[in-house]
Amino acid sequence: MYYHDYLQLDKILNAQDPESFKEGREPAHDEMLFIIVHQAYELWFKQVLYELEFVMNVFKKTNIDDNSEDLNLVRHRLNRVIKINELLNHQVDLVDTMTPLDFLEFRNLLIPASGFQSVQFRQVEATLGLDMQKRFAKDYYKRTNEGGFLPTDFDKINEIEKQESLLHLINNWLERMPFFELDFWKNYQIHFPLTEHLHPFWSDYRTIYKTGLTEREASKINDFDLIFFNNQGSFTEEQAAAMRPVISAKALKAGLFIMLYRDFPVFQTSYQILDALVEIDHQMATWRHKHLVMVRRMIGMRMGTGNTSGGGYLEGALSKHYVFKDIAGLSTFLIERKKLPKLPQDLIRKLSYN
Ligand code: HEM
Repeated sequence: MYYHDYLQLDKILNAQDPESFKEGREPAHDEMLFIIVHQAYELWFKQVLYELEFVMNVFKKTNIDDNSEDLNLVRHRLNRVIKINELLNHQVDLVDTMTPLDFLEFRNLLIPASGFQSVQFRQVEATLGLDMQKRFAKDYYKRTNEGGFLPTDFDKINEIEKQESLLHLINNWLERMPFFELDFWKNYQIHFPLTEHLHPFWSDYRTIYKTGLTEREASKINDFDLIFFNNQGSFTEEQAAAMRPVISAKALKAGLFIMLYRDFPVFQTSYQILDALVEIDHQMATWRHKHLVMVRRMIGMRMGTGNTSGGGYLEGALSKHYVFKDIAGLSTFLIERKKLPKLPQDLIRKLSYN
C-alpha cells in the first residue's frame, strides 16, 4: 500500500476546478478556498451520515440489550458527531477570511448553485427527523427550477423522509422503557394524596412540580398536563395543537424520568444519549447562526445564488429547524434534586433497558 493510492489522492486533489480559472476569465484567488471548504464540509457530512447509520440500526432493533455494547457505542458515536459539528462550526471562520469583495469576483459564476442544494446536508436533517412539511418556507424545497434540487436529488431526500427518522426511533425506544410497570412500584411510599387515575409516581411528581412553581409560572401545570397526559384543560384546540409535542406523552415521561434520575448508573448511558441528541441540535443551530452572520456580511441583503431571499430565509430556518426540541423542552418540568421521590428498590433492581 502506498499513502497516495490508499487515500485516492489523485481523485481528491484533482477535484478542484474553479470556474474563474477557466480560459478567458480573470482567476479569483479565493475561489480555491471556497471550493475546498465546501468539499471538506461534504466529506464530513459523509462521516456524520455514516455514524448516524450505525445509530439508526441500533435503535431499529426491537430489543436493545443493556448488557451489549450497543448503547455505549451509540453514545460514543453520537459524541463523535458532536465533535465533527464543532469542527464544521469552526470552518465558517475560514470562509470569513474571504472579504465580500473577494467573493464578488466569482459569485456570479456560481449562479444558480448554492449550499442549499447540498443533498448530504438535507440527508442529515431528514435522518435526524426534520420533515419537509415542517420546514421554514417549504416551497423553496419543491422547486426543481433555478436554485432547486435536481429531480433525482429531490426524490432521494423525500425517500429518506418516508423512512423512520432517528426522532421516531428514539420515541419508540423511550416508549419501550419499563419504568412505570406497576409491579415495580408495589413498595413505593406515596408522599401526597393520590390523584385519581395517575400512576403513584406521577401523582406525587405532579404535586411536587405544582407546589414548586412560582406565582408567575403557576400556569405551567397546564402545560405539564397537556404534554404528559394529553389533558387539554382550558387550552383552545389551536393552542393545544401548537404546543403538542412530536414525541408521544409516554416517551416523554420516560425521557423526563431518565433526566431526573440520571445520577443512577443504570440511567447514565440513556441520559447521555438524550443529551447528545439535544447537543447535536444545538450544534446545528450554532452552524446555522454562524453561517447566517457570515452570509449577511458577505452579501448583505442580496438574494442567495440559490434564489432564496438569502438572509431572511436562513434566519427562518435557524429558528424553525430544531429536531429534538421536545427533549430539550423537558427542562421545563424538572424539579430540584432534593425533592425527587425516592425510587423503590424493586425498580432499581429489576430495571433493564428494552
Ligand atoms: C461566501 C460564502 C457563502 C455564502 C455567501 C452563502 C450563502 C448562502 C445563502 C444565501 C443561502 C440560502 C440559499 C440561497 O439562496 O442560496 C445558503 C444556504 C446554505 N449554505 Fe451557504 N453560503 C456560503 C458558504 C457556505 C458553506 C462553506 C457551506 C458549507 C457546506 C454552505 C452551506 C449551505 C447550506 C447547507 C445551506 C442551506 C441551509 C439551510 O437550508 O438551512 N454555505 N448559503
